[in-house]
Amino acid sequence: MPSEFHCLVLLLTVGACICAAEVSSFREAPAFRNGRECPETTWSSVDGKSYNPSIIHIAMTLDTVYLRGSVAGVFSVLLHATCPENIVFHFITTQRSSAELARAITSTFPYLNLHLYHFDANLVRGKISSSIRRALDQPLNYARIYLADLLPAGVRRIIYFDSDLIVVDDVAKLWNINLGSHVLGAPEYCHANFTTYFTHKFWSNPLFAATFKGKEPCYFNTGVMVIDLWKWRQGRYTEKLENWMRIQKRHRIYELGSLPPFLLVFAGNVERVEHRWNQHGLGGDNLEGLCRDLHLGPVSLLHWSGKGKPWLRIDSKKPCPLDALWAPYDLFRHPSLFSDS
Ligand SMILES: *[C@@H]1O[C@H](CO)[C@@H](O)[C@H](O)[C@H]1NC(C)=O
Repeated sequence: MPSEFHCLVLLLTVGACICAAEVSSFREAPAFRNGRECPETTWSSVDGKSYNPSIIHIAMTLDTVYLRGSVAGVFSVLLHATCPENIVFHFITTQRSSAELARAITSTFPYLNLHLYHFDANLVRGKISSSIRRALDQPLNYARIYLADLLPAGVRRIIYFDSDLIVVDDVAKLWNINLGSHVLGAPEYCHANFTTYFTHKFWSNPLFAATFKGKEPCYFNTGVMVIDLWKWRQGRYTEKLENWMRIQKRHRIYELGSLPPFLLVFAGNVERVEHRWNQHGLGGDNLEGLCRDLHLGPVSLLHWSGKGKPWLRIDSKKPCPLDALWAPYDLFRHPSLFSDS
């Protein structure tokens, strides 16, 4: 068996990165420069409290399994931004292999304004209950709940992006949405049957079911969110989400991972973002990862949520038609290019 194939098989089956050096090997992205119309500005995490809305803050997680997706996501944001130099990326990792990941991301994007944060997996480990898909139970999936604690006080607003998406529009348009009185903005999907996101045990308990009383809750996807961190801190939303996770441990009120706590706290109280900003579900369902089509309407962001990931399907030579839209943002350098043969 050729060694690169062997490596791929390992990657797919174990998910662990025995070939870490190869995994962190990406082509270097070019320097992206601001357009003339961009305000000249800098941001330092040290000069704390002042809020500068012309700097766009984006948070993403980094881990070895999704690194290729994160790199493609960052690349896509920079490629379509009018003012790429005014974007600051905040990357969250867990302690293990964070040095390698940092090296991978800085060597791929040498000009990127980025900050790294360590997320203590022990913060959530005891609060996670197993869901229908093991990938959803990774502690790093829950890091989005702790953004207000992780990021410096000077970051007032944050865009959170999952690592399996690409942006094909100027991210400034998403950044500049009006959140109104809301803490969180995201596209809402009111046609989805909201009942199905919680168990019978939840709906049959009047105390729990009262959570949505007087509200019109709709499903939203937590892979794309605009969050006012100042309001989040004031309202102690991290604690609210954690409380639901504790309740889940005892009562099993839902089957998914980090999504339901967000629905419990925010559904019915979300600033509506245009659907174009999260064309989600391209990874298929949670069990089989079948090919999906786009939803109707314009597209600013493509999101491979669900089980199937474009880089795995492309490598296994079984891509879905829409994976071809992801491929141009793939900076991964296949190990075979370096092998002796
Ligand atoms: C929504 O799902 C619940 C539970 O599966 C079901 O009982 C209900 O009939 C569904 N509602 C609609 C409008 O489809």
